[in-house]
Amino acid sequence: MDIRSSGEPELTRAAPEDVAAVEGAAAAEGAAAAEDAAAGERAFDAIIAADSRVEPTDWMPEGYRKTLVRQISQHAHSEIIGMQPEGNWITRAPSLKRKAILMAKVQDEAGHGLYLYSAAQTLGVDRETMFDQLITGSAKYSSIFNYLTPTWADMGSIGWLVDGAAICNQVPLCRASYGPYARAMVRICKEESFHQRQGFEILLTLSNGSAAQKAMAQESVNRWYAPALMMFGPPDGDSPNSRQSMAWNIKRFSNDDLRQRFVDMIVPQAEILGLTLPDPAIAWNEERGHYDFGELDWAEFHEVLAGRGQANAVRVARRRAAHEGGAWVREAARAYADKQAAASVNDTEFEAAETRHVAERIAS
Ligand SMILES: [Fe+2]
Ligand SMILES: [Fe+2]
Repeated sequence: MDIRSSGEPELTRAAPEDVAAVEGAAAAEGAAAAEDAAAGERAFDAIIAADSRVEPTDWMPEGYRKTLVRQISQHAHSEIIGMQPEGNWITRAPSLKRKAILMAKVQDEAGHGLYLYSAAQTLGVDRETMFDQLITGSAKYSSIFNYLTPTWADMGSIGWLVDGAAICNQVPLCRASYGPYARAMVRICKEESFHQRQGFEILLTLSNGSAAQKAMAQESVNRWYAPALMMFGPPDGDSPNSRQSMAWNIKRFSNDDLRQRFVDMIVPQAEILGLTLPDPAIAWNEERGHYDFGELDWAEFHEVLAGRGQANAVRVARRRAAHEGGAWVREAARAYADKQAAASVNDTEFEAAETRHVAERIAS
């Protein structure tokens, strides 16, 4: 608002010597801030060079902070949205044991989301903002959760392939340079390996079951194989941010290296399962010491990423409904916290009055 049109009295003009003093102080403050930033940058560079950990109170470049906020919040959103394709099967799991295992796994994913939101909060972004970005559809999360889960075998494929790819991606993140993120990843990875094993075991059981069960397992693996490989992100040549993330010790291996590692892991596991992977180009390459595999259909990846996957709209809509449906829980928790805070103030006042009373009696 223009101060002159607001009816406020015009500001009195400062004397020239006062202006000089203020300008001098501002310049000194600016110089001190620049010196602090330079010292902070040196300390940050030293931490990265020593492959040590950056903590929330340390100085960090704005780009580093922003990269981490984006990566950690996307990761948190993926865990939370990732509960939906499997949550879909909790009521239809084929036995009590399977139901209990699946419920535990889905709850683990909720916990992963919460550790990661907490890690992102240490970088100055609040949880409400992140939730809002997710339910308004402006935040990204892993595209893999925009595929549907029409069969029980999909619970096996998600565990074996999706959680398996997550492990390949996330184990190196336990050594990420940002302390709260790296520490969250340690526990997450332990739980992810249980997830992968439970998925593998579902497929192994189906594969050794009836012909129809084996066919269901194979059909599911056929659908999940390529999307799981795409979880590592685009080929290195199309991943411009990776280089900076690697220089900051956030990312330890390139997308293509991680993808190769994953393929090397699942090819022998598929043999144990008695299932095939839907890529005729898969073959052991003696010279490279790795399995070769075929090109992926990146056009499909970009379609899903652009929001045109099988379930993009339904995932976000369901998340928004859950968030809105849970508003009363947040309100009740806030009311309870306010009541507790008021009670503790009353307790303090009561104790102070009592102390005064005792002191007065002693004095009289
Ligand atoms: Fe997870
Ligand atoms: Fe998981």
